[in-house]
Amino acid sequence: MKGKLFSFLIFPIILTGIIFISKVSFINIAKEDFKCLKCHKGSKSLENIVKEKHITSADQLKYLIRKGPKSGLHITVPDKDLEKAIEYLHLKYNVKKEKTKKN
Ligand code: HEC
Repeated sequence: MKGKLFSFLIFPIILTGIIFISKVSFINIAKEDFKCLKCHKGSKSLENIVKEKHITSADQLKYLIRKGPKSGLHITVPDKDLEKAIEYLHLKYNVKKEKTKKN
């Protein structure tokens, strides 16, 4: 009988634990739901890179990611995440300079 009582107690505790952990990880995913942040952390954070490279517009960021010397590192990054990064960094499109872009 002792064993049964034990399992009645331990089960809700484990369940609560699982719910708690999955909630925490859900919050983390919601916060960092674009790919850039997986690689850009700490000293290589997007904020730091933007400052370092003097990136001041969305076009500049897009150019570096798609056609710059480091574009090879960013092949797997979808456009959707690039847009999210632009929003995240509060960058604006440079409308005047924009030509009829392919893609
Ligand atoms: C697979 C990992 C990875 C992902 C995903 C990634 N980056 Fe990078 N990124 C790198 C690495 C590595 C570098 C080179 C860092 C260095 O210069 O030391 C880099 C460099 C950069 C640079 C500097 C480019 C240059 O020409 O110097 C910018 C800007 C940048 N990333 C922005 C982004 C943005 C915005 C995203 C999301 C849309 C993103 N990255 C997603 C790995 C990644």
